[in-house]
Amino acid sequence: MQPIGPLMIEHRLIERLLLLVQREFQRIRDNVAVDPEFAFVDPEFIDTAMDFIRTYADRCHHGKEEDILFKALAEKNLSPEHRRTMEDLIKEHAWARETTAGLVKAKDGYLMEKPGALDDLMDHLEKLVEFYPRHIDKEDKHFFIPCLTYFSEAEQADLLARMHEFDRLLIHEKYRGLVEGMEQRRGCQSC
Ligand SMILES: [Fe+2]
Ligand SMILES: [Fe+2]
Repeated sequence: MQPIGPLMIEHRLIERLLLLVQREFQRIRDNVAVDPEFAFVDPEFIDTAMDFIRTYADRCHHGKEEDILFKALAEKNLSPEHRRTMEDLIKEHAWARETTAGLVKAKDGYLMEKPGALDDLMDHLEKLVEFYPRHIDKEDKHFFIPCLTYFSEAEQADLLARMHEFDRLLIHEKYRGLVEGMEQRRGCQSC
């Protein structure tokens, strides 16, 4: 498999999640159109979707793009166009990270019945639904394949192996972080 293989496979799962988010967005919007007082936001859906975006789309997927593929590309003599696209993609990752954090904050505000929180939540949902397909399309159709030409077969094999290792370590990082967060919140001194 080429090193862009795992990234493209991950794109397909991200698209499926975003389709669910889009449907949820439309469902809430339809509810609000009938009666603005009853949006029926499902906080569990938002939490699950945001965990997917933070852990899978950002840490796992953008992590492999930025820490492995883009880092290796940065050492190559990239064409100005490819370098610009790569810089744009990195900026877009940062934007998605901020927007996801904004969505989580808006959801918390909504649960506390803060004024304007529903509009804020819907605004962030819509932005993410619009963003990901564009970002994925740019990578799949205009960046990943030409990128391969900068690497020898041995270099591609090395990138792929490093991506597998990145994934292998991720589950441990995720749940170590979870336990450490719980320890901190409960003031656990002995850990
Ligand atoms: Fe990306
Ligand atoms: Fe991607």
